[in-house]
Amino acid sequence: MNNSDVSGSAVKKIWLLLLIFFIVSAQAYSISTPEEFLAHTKGASSCTSQTCHQELTKKAGTFLHSPVASEQCSTCHDAKKYPDKYGVEQNQRAMCARCHNSLEHEILKRTFVHGPIKNDLCTSCHDPHQSVWPFFLKKSYTELCTSCHKVERLYTGEFMHKPVKDGSCGLCHDPHASDFKYRLLDVGVNLCAACHQDLVAGMSQEYIHEPIIKSGCSACHNPHSGNNKFRLNVSAKKACFTCHEEKKNEVNQYKYKHKPAAEGNCTACHSPHFSDNPNLLIDRTDALCYKCHEENNVWEKRKFQHGPVAQGNCTACHNPHGSDNAYILRLPFPHSFYTEYDKKKYSLCFLCHKESLVTVEETETITNFRNGKTNLHRLHVQQKKGRTCRACHDVHASNQEGRIRDEFPFGKVSIRLEYNQTETGGSCVPGCHIQRSYDRVNSVSYTR
Ligand code: HEC
Ligand code: HEC
Ligand code: HEC
Ligand code: HEC
Ligand code: HEC
Ligand code: HEC
Ligand code: HEC
Ligand code: HEC
Ligand code: HEC
Ligand code: HEC
Ligand code: HEC
Ligand code: HEC
Ligand code: HEC
Repeated sequence: MNNSDVSGSAVKKIWLLLLIFFIVSAQAYSISTPEEFLAHTKGASSCTSQTCHQELTKKAGTFLHSPVASEQCSTCHDAKKYPDKYGVEQNQRAMCARCHNSLEHEILKRTFVHGPIKNDLCTSCHDPHQSVWPFFLKKSYTELCTSCHKVERLYTGEFMHKPVKDGSCGLCHDPHASDFKYRLLDVGVNLCAACHQDLVAGMSQEYIHEPIIKSGCSACHNPHSGNNKFRLNVSAKKACFTCHEEKKNEVNQYKYKHKPAAEGNCTACHSPHFSDNPNLLIDRTDALCYKCHEENNVWEKRKFQHGPVAQGNCTACHNPHGSDNAYILRLPFPHSFYTEYDKKKYSLCFLCHKESLVTVEETETITNFRNGKTNLHRLHVQQKKGRTCRACHDVHASNQEGRIRDEFPFGKVSIRLEYNQTETGGSCVPGCHIQRSYDRVNSVSYTR
């Protein structure tokens, strides 16, 4: 025989003695008729004395229900009601309603009433006498709700919403009744706005993402817990595609995909919530591009900016999601120094400029880049070995008039283009050969 067996049989004996004691004492206080109850309380000026029910009122650090504190025990324990359990009404809701009639009226007015209350059981949550928890709750708030709601997914996600973690379910759900489904305190954005004040401010912005208006915040966020950051219903990289599937297909089809869009990093440019910028952009378009393309900030400081660039309209030429043209350009544009002329190759420029700029032989109006009437644009561009626009112009910005590029990257070296404009023409030192001039009034003569 070892030691644990000895202690085991001793424990059994103690239990047996305790059991007998309880049976005897229970019989002594067994109350099943009004008479027995009166006999039980006979002579007592108070239900709570040194020997009786003291535990109901004298526990340190407890919250005490007012009628218990003032020993109005009989408001709930009615001798006439025995043999009902403890002489309290079977319908506990009615019992509570006697004093808490305003709450009862509230509950009756509401559409959605909590299950236990529908079953008239206020005491499934509240202790009628006292508790260590506020509102005489039978358990801590967290344990209370979870004792009946064993909905794992609500609490087990890696990212738990702070009020849920704190067990403050009541900050969103009314424990009793409400006019909103799931007995929420409010609907849609307003529910969340109670704590996310900054987002209330956001609602005054000009553009609001439609699902926020139609379905509220939980269209994308789980209000309780989840395994994605920000408790998104779907991971951030896929969140947008649940509704914008067409965008995913669109981006996938492009030969040249803009990296952040291809990676599903949509929120690098778009706010999922609201914005003062069209298309929910988080900033003015050019500022947005410069955020990542920092090195191109220099364009802003150059003296001459291309019309759309000056307007911050980068997407006039670039599709921010992707394109079948290199540099994610919306339309074709040649990137080499020389190319045989074909209108289609310059569709991008001809979106805003007229093709005649480079096709008319003689003009006095179409372009200033002419010698007398000879269109020098045509001369340079419309040939077998035509110079592209890019050979002379910087599409974004430059420091030289006519937005002539400051330099041209030719192989590994950069060739400076020294361009000077005059009242009636201009001159150019392309870097590799002699100066050439043109003049619209007194044409410069060249023998070719
Ligand atoms: C607000 C109503 C209410 C008041 C006031 C009240 N009780 Fe109770 N009491 C109840 C209810 C309801 C139950 C049954 C509890 C249950 O079903 O869990 C109960 C059960 C009891 C029980 C048996 C179970 C237990 O918890 O020990 C005792 C003893 C008791 N009350 C004593 C008292 C005394 C003594 C007072 C006055 C100091 C008092 N009660 C005041 C509602 C009340
Ligand atoms: C005899 C009248 C009476 C009855 C019956 C009664 N209460 Fe109360 N109850 C009070 C009074 C008085 C207060 C204190 C009110 C206050 O502080 O605003 C109170 C307070 C409370 C509070 C705390 C409210 C607060 O704001 O702190 C809760 C919870 C509560 N009662 C629940 C119940 C429940 C559940 C029942 C039914 C089992 C019940 N009461 C039955 C009189 C009663
Ligand atoms: C599901 C659990 C639950 C049930 C069932 C329940 N309560 Fe409550 N009650 C709470 C919680 C939790 C609070 C704390 C207040 C809060 O967080 O809004 C509370 C607060 C109260 C309060 C004080 C605040 C207020 O709203 O006036 C009273 C009074 C009250 N309950 C009475 C009742 C009565 C009467 C019933 C039965 C009709 C009842 N309760 C049923 C959980 C419950
Ligand atoms: C005594 C058990 C019990 C406790 C404790 C309890 N509930 Fe409930 N709850 C239920 C029952 C039963 C239903 C189902 C009611 C129905 O379908 O009408 C329910 C329904 C709900 C619903 C609505 C679900 C739906 O599909 O409509 C929500 C939300 C809820 N409870 C939240 C809470 C919160 C928050 C707490 C803690 C304050 C809590 N419950 C504590 C029993 C409980
Ligand atoms: C930040 C607000 C918020 C808090 C805090 C919160 N809930 Fe909810 N709860 C919601 C919303 C919103 C819904 C509606 C369902 C949805 O949109 O996913 C909901 C739905 C529910 C449902 C019913 C739907 C379901 O998925 O089963 C239960 C049950 C529930 N909550 C219990 C709880 C409990 C228990 C707590 C505390 C641990 C709690 N909630 C805390 C906002 C909240
Ligand atoms: C009772 C207050 C309260 C309510 C109501 C509330 N939140 Fe929160 N929420 C918080 C707190 C506190 C944090 C943590 C903030 C922090 O850590 O900076 C938070 C954080 C968040 C975060 C950031 C991710 C995280 O978990 O840290 C998201 C997303 C969020 N809440 C969404 C919502 C949505 C959606 C609703 C409405 C269904 C909502 N909240 C309602 C208090 C609340
Ligand atoms: C269309 C989906 C969608 C809706 C609807 C939505 N969110 Fe978000 N939310 C997101 C995404 C995606 C992120 C992550 C943003 C990021 O990656 O920077 C986020 C991030 C957050 C954050 C944390 C980061 C921050 O910006 O502070 C909070 C808080 C938040 N949302 C609250 C809300 C609230 C409150 C609502 C309702 C007004 C709401 N969300 C509606 C998709 C959504
Ligand atoms: C719950 C569905 C849903 C989700 C998730 C969603 N959207 Fe939307 N979004 C819509 C609807 C509906 C519209 C309005 C109709 C439309 O333009 O297609 C819209 C419109 C837009 C618009 C155009 C706004 C305007 O002013 O024209 C942009 C940009 C946008 N969403 C970006 C996003 C991004 C980025 C995400 C991911 C963070 C996202 N959406 C996630 C439903 C959604
Ligand atoms: C680099 C920034 C950037 C990224 C990343 C980005 N967008 Fe956009 N998006 C824009 C801009 C800028 C516009 C405005 C288009 C315009 O000006 O023509 C826009 C427009 C939109 C529109 C409305 C017009 C249209 O084209 O249908 C939707 C919807 C949209 N984006 C969804 C998305 C989704 C989904 C993602 C993630 C795959 C995403 N965007 C990624 C910058 C971006
Ligand atoms: C979130 C960061 C980010 C933002 C915002 C952004 N881009 Fe980009 N962009 C990139 C990355 C990353 C690449 C790929 C660079 C690489 O592959 O070397 C890229 C590539 C490009 C390219 C192709 C460059 C090449 O050499 O092929 C162009 C053109 C471009 N972006 C234009 C834009 C424009 C226009 C905007 C504004 C509408 C913008 N980008 C906004 C990150 C960004
Ligand atoms: C008029 C059309 C047009 C506009 C407007 C435009 N771009 Fe471009 N962008 C181009 C072309 C064409 C290229 C290809 C350059 C080449 O072939 O040398 C390019 C190339 C780029 C590149 C990659 C190569 C490089 O030079 O670094 C980036 C990044 C870029 N653009 C960003 C922007 C930004 C940011 C804006 C707005 C401030 C913008 N673009 C406005 C036509 C345009
Ligand atoms: C979205 C419309 C748009 C597109 C596309 C466009 N441009 Fe322009 N372009 C303009 C505007 C607007 C001006 C300014 C006219 C003015 O200020 O008089 C301009 C002016 C110019 C100038 C004269 C610059 C100056 O400072 O005098 C040149 C050179 C030029 N564009 C070249 C190009 C080239 C090359 C392309 C093709 C890559 C192109 N543009 C595509 C709108 C566009
Ligand atoms: C050989 C160099 C060169 C080439 C190639 C070139 N340009 Fe120019 N372009 C100029 C010069 C120089 C001016 C300035 C003329 C002046 O104001 O005296 C100019 C001016 C312009 C202007 C301003 C209006 C005008 O014609 O005066 C536009 C628009 C323009 N170019 C568009 C283009 C386009 C589009 C292409 C390609 C299809 C192109 N250029 C090719 C040198 C060139």
